[in-house]
Amino acid sequence: MDLTVRPRRLRSSETLRRMVRETRLSPASLIYPMFVMDGKDKVEEIPSLPGQFRYTVDRMEEELFLLKEAGVSQVMLFGIPDRKDEVGSQAYDPNGVVQRALHRAREVCPDLYLITDVCMCEYTSHGHCGVLCGKDVDNDRTLELLARTALSHAQAGADMVAPSDMMDGRVAAIRRMLDEEGFIRTPIMSYSVKFASSFYGPFRDAAGSAPSFGDRKSYQMDYHNRREALKEALLDVQEGADILMVKPAMSYLDLVREVKDATTLPLAVYSVSGEYAMVKAAAEKGWIDEERIFCEMAVSAFRAGADLYITYYAKELARFIKEGRIG
Ligand code: PBG
Repeated sequence: MDLTVRPRRLRSSETLRRMVRETRLSPASLIYPMFVMDGKDKVEEIPSLPGQFRYTVDRMEEELFLLKEAGVSQVMLFGIPDRKDEVGSQAYDPNGVVQRALHRAREVCPDLYLITDVCMCEYTSHGHCGVLCGKDVDNDRTLELLARTALSHAQAGADMVAPSDMMDGRVAAIRRMLDEEGFIRTPIMSYSVKFASSFYGPFRDAAGSAPSFGDRKSYQMDYHNRREALKEALLDVQEGADILMVKPAMSYLDLVREVKDATTLPLAVYSVSGEYAMVKAAAEKGWIDEERIFCEMAVSAFRAGADLYITYYAKELARFIKEGRIG
């Protein structure tokens, strides 16, 4: 055969395949989501997320040490309060669960990079991501509370805040509040392109944050839309976001690429609870190879344009990267 171009030539050995690899991974780009709850001396496995736990603040160091050992230095904290009310007051209470967790994490693992999810849904009695006006979430009143929440996280030691509520104008409101109070160096990672997705189901079980009526479609995005994703991303750029996010990951990689090409900010991609739960469930049945699947999912997110990858598999991925099994 007279073939001059033979793509297989570069696939002929593991060494060569590694040499010409286009996507490379690093533990520095992984973020681990972690649930902290009110109460004392408890670690609970989350039924819909096998292998993931809720920790009381006095027990969270067990997980922090495991993260450190695995080589993951970035954690994103989600709070699960005992007390919920109409206005989510535990979200911005200086003694709230996330605020206490921040102090504790800083004490036991000073070099860990602490990111907080800023939202109301885990803190409101109705489970919506803001305060209500009738049956609707009141955008502008919610902004004030989100900004107070972000500020209280920064005051308690958060290195970065990540608003996930999808209210209009929240990045600008949070930026203004942080700057006024002297936190000009605290970056905002905005959940810019966040869809109303059934992939969050297991998370809502984990955090007890499912809305008690209706759904989140009046604030989270309609997953039929592509241009709207760019509109949201560009608005957040204008409002002063430092890092953008697309969420969920697996079904939205087209938008990861589009947002990446349309902006110059670092881009985070969140592989959400439903993605993790599907892999776990199929692996438990013996139908898929869990390790190979989560590696393939991670690489596809980075190949699509992710700079940062938020995943419940962060520890395993970091280990595999170190061992040279991927990336
Ligand atoms: C809070 C929030 C949610 C997730 C991250 N932040 C839930 C939601 O919007 O309902 C989902 C994370 C996951 O599913 O892993 N608003």
